Amino acid sequence: MTLGHVWLVGAGPGDPGLITANGLAALRRADVVVYDRLAPHELLDEARAGALLIDAGKSADNHTLTQDETNALLVEHGLAGRRVVRLKGGDPYVFGRGGEEALALAAVGVPCTVIPGVTSAIGGLALGGVPVTHRGVATSFAVVTGHEDPTKPHEGVDWARLAGATDTIVVLMGAARLEGIARALIEGGRPASTPAAVVQEASTPRQRAVTGTLATIAGVARTGKIGAPALFVVGDVAAFQQTLAPSALAPLAGKRVLVTRTRAQASSLAEALRLEGAHP
Ligand SMILES: C[S@@+](CC[C@H](N)C(=O)[O-])C[C@H]1O[C@@H](n2cnc3c(N)ncnc32)[C@H](O)[C@@H]1O
Repeated sequence: MTLGHVWLVGAGPGDPGLITANGLAALRRADVVVYDRLAPHELLDEARAGALLIDAGKSADNHTLTQDETNALLVEHGLAGRRVVRLKGGDPYVFGRGGEEALALAAVGVPCTVIPGVTSAIGGLALGGVPVTHRGVATSFAVVTGHEDPTKPHEGVDWARLAGATDTIVVLMGAARLEGIARALIEGGRPASTPAAVVQEASTPRQRAVTGTLATIAGVARTGKIGAPALFVVGDVAAFQQTLAPSALAPLAGKRVLVTRTRAQASSLAEALRLEGAHP
């Protein structure tokens, strides 16, 4: 029996143009594409006609696949000799459970290649207007999960230790816990006046951002109705957000544009518009 091959492909934070050249090549050659909710769905148009597209967010009976079920699906198609792309939002190894999938494939000997992606934690943040480091301002950063409840004992992130450990702190999956996280960082010794920002749906036409300080950010985000998926960034670099937001730098950035041309003309115009920051 010929073994297949699984590519764990990072699709980037949301803008379909942010997948890598290798990721796109793998996608175009795949027999099976298993995709996540956060991977830009426009990319599925790049799969070849006849490729099997599987939403890992839903099974045949409409429940969300567990991680074990997703692993089993990749193993099954890999053992059956298929070329499988596992398309994930951002980078597969940044809170993407890509490592678990690669281990499951290694355990049964199915070849697996990871194709890194632009993580929302750095690239998404950049498009939100926040450089994760900046000379003289921030020389270190940490990317952490906000999924655990900071008010409960024994949760995963040691917020008190983190508070002073790095200049920039980027919290993923923390949109619902801004208040608790901000409080935990202040209690850990980070000044309440530290700049902070929240960027929702970075790199997509729906991108929105708010800024404040550790003391104010949860309230500002609530008033602005900012929700998941969002990046919560704490540190002096967050003060750049309003100056470096794409819309402040380039006239077409963030604009939605309807392209009405033949398919061949439309794709080259769409490419030019995307480079100007627009969303064709
Ligand atoms: C399960 S993690 C996956 C992260 C992904 N592997 C990456 O490298 O970006 C999902 C979290 O990533 C963040 N995220 C992903 N895409 C985002 C986007 N376009 N804008 C803001 N946050 C995003 C959010 O915090 C979301 O809750």
